Amino acid sequence: MNPWFETVAEAQRRAKKRLPSSVYGALVAGSEKGVTIDDNLAAFSELGFAPHVAGHKADRDLTTSVMGIDISFPVIISPTGVQAVHPDGEVAVARAAAARGTIMGLSSFASKPVEEVVAANPNTFFQMYWTGTREAMIQRMDRARKAGAKGLIATLDWSFSNGRDWGSPAIPEKLNLKTMVDFAPNVLPHPRWLWTFAKSGRLPDLTTPNLQAPGGEAPTFFGAYYEWMQTPPPTWEDVAWLAKEWGGPFMLKGVTRVDDAKRAVDAGVTAISVSNHGGNNLDTTPATIRMLPSVAEAVGDQIEVLLDGGVRRGSDVAKAVALGARAVMIGRAYLWGLAANGQGGVENVLDILRGGLDSAVLGTGHTSVKELGPEDLVIPPGFTRTLGASGADESPASPARKTGQARAGQRTQKPLAKAEAESA
Ligand SMILES: Cc1cc2nc3c(=O)[nH]c(=O)nc-3n(C[C@H](O)[C@H](O)[C@H](O)COP(=O)(O)O)c2cc1C
Repeated sequence: MNPWFETVAEAQRRAKKRLPSSVYGALVAGSEKGVTIDDNLAAFSELGFAPHVAGHKADRDLTTSVMGIDISFPVIISPTGVQAVHPDGEVAVARAAAARGTIMGLSSFASKPVEEVVAANPNTFFQMYWTGTREAMIQRMDRARKAGAKGLIATLDWSFSNGRDWGSPAIPEKLNLKTMVDFAPNVLPHPRWLWTFAKSGRLPDLTTPNLQAPGGEAPTFFGAYYEWMQTPPPTWEDVAWLAKEWGGPFMLKGVTRVDDAKRAVDAGVTAISVSNHGGNNLDTTPATIRMLPSVAEAVGDQIEVLLDGGVRRGSDVAKAVALGARAVMIGRAYLWGLAANGQGGVENVLDILRGGLDSAVLGTGHTSVKELGPEDLVIPPGFTRTLGASGADESPASPARKTGQARAGQRTQKPLAKAEAESA
């Protein structure tokens, strides 16, 4: 079979066929009824384009930068714990991101050590949760810094929600001969996945080497999760402490509210990602693209605003940039590519997103991705959601929030209300 695929949907179909159902189910994830995970995708479909018919530009510039790093187009890799998808795991993802000129986000719950990942892509951001003692967090940051990580992503939008109406996959604590036998009915119908691991001579690794204490053993995924659950949740002072201890480019991932975005600015962050953890956290939180405009308007002139959640197409990237994102972070899209065809599959996904974004920039008549704005979109009434802004009009009939944020190096956009009226 030709390993190349045409869309991310096809990569997902191949991933589903190829992976044992428990591994595939862990990537689908979601929580409770799956309202948020669905809305992350549906909201992008509700937005339309307002293309021009002539006057298109032959040369188009998709480049931008995130937290001081130049990238070839506004898509970076969101951190995920990529356990058991592919033997090369995060190293393959990092190589693909480097080959396509973008940033690798590495989860602290990942299966590959930060040193190996930075060697594969020097433009790596290390991601941490608020877990363990302050000493442990300092030690993990020191290690990432020494390895050469160029930024820290602090992910705080996790409230340990559990239970899915469609059922959660069974995942063993450790993979050894016994658990392989137990899981055989799940694994044996997937010979290609088994063969990829067999060729590498390794069993899928369910440990978290980046959380290993000096002289200790790497905790298992579940051991690490237990430590996290036992850690008292952070305050805003803790966020400021973390940013200061890191002392370099720092992203707070998981912001959805305007008041939190402002507090993040006060805490000294460089960037935020408007994120609902890919719909894996509190179900019924709105789609991130609905919340982006108000957050971008509130703080986009002070810090960089990114978005993640539901990005599967280049047109989704264009829509997010048009509504105020400097760049997007992708999660499942590259996981499907990784499962379908390793490093080449992740490159394939990045190429699909780049191609779709370029088409959108072409069709809307721009020369640069930085020129995209709400006037390029058809935005249905009641599309946006403004959370945590005192005095904000939450009425679905008058959702308009301005997105007049002046992103560094990007032009000020028209207010969303005006663009809605013009595009109607
Ligand atoms: C399987 C899986 C594992 C994830 N693990 C992490 C993680 O370890 N750290 C983190 O900050 N976010 C994690 N996320 C969230 C992603 O970084 C990102 O926010 C989300 O996947 C974006 O939505 P999308 O998958 O629709 O692109 C994970 C998401 C998935 C699907």
